[in-house]
Amino acid sequence: MCGIVGYIGFRNATDVLLKTLKRLEYRGYDSAGIAVVNGELKVEKRKGYIDTIKSDFKGTVGIGHTRWATHGVPSDENAHPFVDCKGEIAIVHNGIIENFMELKEKLIEKGHVFKSDTDSEVIAHLIEEYYEDSFKDAFIKAVNELKGSFAIAAVMKGQRRIMAAKNESPLVIGIGDHENFIASDIPAFLEYTNRVIVLKDGEICEVTDDFVNIYDLKGNEVKESITTIDWSVEDAEKSGYEHFMLKEIFEQPRALEDTLHALLSKDMPEMDFERVHIVACGTSYHAGLTGKYIIEELLHVPVYVYYASEYRYMPEIEEKALTIFITQSGETADTIGAAKRAKDLGNYTMAITNVVGSSITNYVDQVLYTNAGPEIGVAATKTFTTQLMVLYYFSIIFASKKGKISKKKANELLKELQKTGYYVERVLGEEDNIKKVAREIASAQSMYFIARGRNYPIALEGALKMKEISYVHAEGYPAGELKHGPIALISDNMPVIAIVPEDELYGKMISNIKEVSARNAFVVAVSSNNDVKKYADTVISIPKTNYLFSPFTNAVALQLLSYHTAKILGRKIDKPKNLAKTVTVE
Ligand code: G6P
Repeated sequence: MCGIVGYIGFRNATDVLLKTLKRLEYRGYDSAGIAVVNGELKVEKRKGYIDTIKSDFKGTVGIGHTRWATHGVPSDENAHPFVDCKGEIAIVHNGIIENFMELKEKLIEKGHVFKSDTDSEVIAHLIEEYYEDSFKDAFIKAVNELKGSFAIAAVMKGQRRIMAAKNESPLVIGIGDHENFIASDIPAFLEYTNRVIVLKDGEICEVTDDFVNIYDLKGNEVKESITTIDWSVEDAEKSGYEHFMLKEIFEQPRALEDTLHALLSKDMPEMDFERVHIVACGTSYHAGLTGKYIIEELLHVPVYVYYASEYRYMPEIEEKALTIFITQSGETADTIGAAKRAKDLGNYTMAITNVVGSSITNYVDQVLYTNAGPEIGVAATKTFTTQLMVLYYFSIIFASKKGKISKKKANELLKELQKTGYYVERVLGEEDNIKKVAREIASAQSMYFIARGRNYPIALEGALKMKEISYVHAEGYPAGELKHGPIALISDNMPVIAIVPEDELYGKMISNIKEVSARNAFVVAVSSNNDVKKYADTVISIPKTNYLFSPFTNAVALQLLSYHTAKILGRKIDKPKNLAKTVTVE
């Protein structure tokens, strides 16, 4: 996920580009850059935040980019805009060009010289390759060669026009008076205009000071209507959601699909291991703990899960293990310290992270990425479920490689994994009911979250989310452990959130519900089985999935529950007190 912008009109393009880019910084902040045409083409780009671009280019036409790295580490060379060999054409791109290797090889054969590791640079060279006497025609021909997802904007020396194209990545045009804007999202230019054209997939756009022409891929003109937006700039940044956390919860179907898609298009590293250690902090630790259940079930190898802050100072363990570090930010000090130690002790190491080129990637032998896009809300949501996606994928692939499950079984499980986005979407459809349940529990002083087996870590995560953003005391327990102490604290109407999937432990969970009900707890059951209504005070209904995959749907239901509880209590949801998104101290 990156942000792109474009401007053509009468204002200073550099100022407009930097201002509009700033509004897209939430889409990524690995590097930034602009290209301005004033007869000549001038480009400035750099690793880091948008504020590092200090140029004072004069000109009234230009494009800009803020990057969330996917292909190639964050660096000056990999920053957008990219230019062709002659430095006359500049492009910015958001998305992934899936056939870039093939195109790059062909272009290199024709003498093009590439300066970056990115997939995006091929676009500038392709336009150059097709250019005869029309920038527009060359652009359309180049776009026809591309496979994958893209929102592209391009400018050319000596031209007073911006060419743009869209496929599966967002792109909108802002219509002004004698000026026009391009951006990945409406908030970027909302202070200048609220009249927009939302481009559709497969559309190409030619933007000048006074007109906007839209074409299909064959170059035939297409008519699109102008919409008037009545959001405030702040509303628009969150795409109309009240908080980033809610937006990110709702982005999960897409994030899960993107993560699996990227995993499927990459060869899994060769690794041989007899045991696995997983090391992480906070929510990532809970993903690791869920991973333990799935890896043990499918691979039948022992998995030990450690808090990074504990692992760092543990006595040395003789036996070597595949050691997996899970960190959405890739910057958590304890997890990095633990990764250094694991390596020093001679373990084979792997990281699961959401940030390409983050620090953790420098300390491990292998990296698997989640493709969740930037997460702004401090409470992790989409990075958690995409971490689960990577762990499930890893388990299925290695169970098959190690001959622990048949190829047929692996394919069946991968098919189920592909449906998680769809099931999560259905949980999101239950939001109104979850809101109602939140109202029923919001006045509680304390809550328990209980579950068994592979959903026990989801109970821990549900309780952590509740604590983090609503500031209500909440604890997660394995349901069978309640009777060994925690049940003593159950008082009248204390909420007990019970995760009751239709799996081999369903009957045991019902018994645990009866135990707390008998002590007057207020039982909220999260289940796909209607029968549970007989035992619980209220039910959050979720769709039935293959039993192995229930942690995804349960996790999302509990994210919505904590979000709505926090909202009822008037908490600062995106920035809870005392917490930080990335903890770079021990
Ligand atoms: C902080 C955040 C948590 C996060 C934890 C680990 O405490 O507030 O939401 O789970 O760090 O972060 P990581 O980036 O390593 O996953």
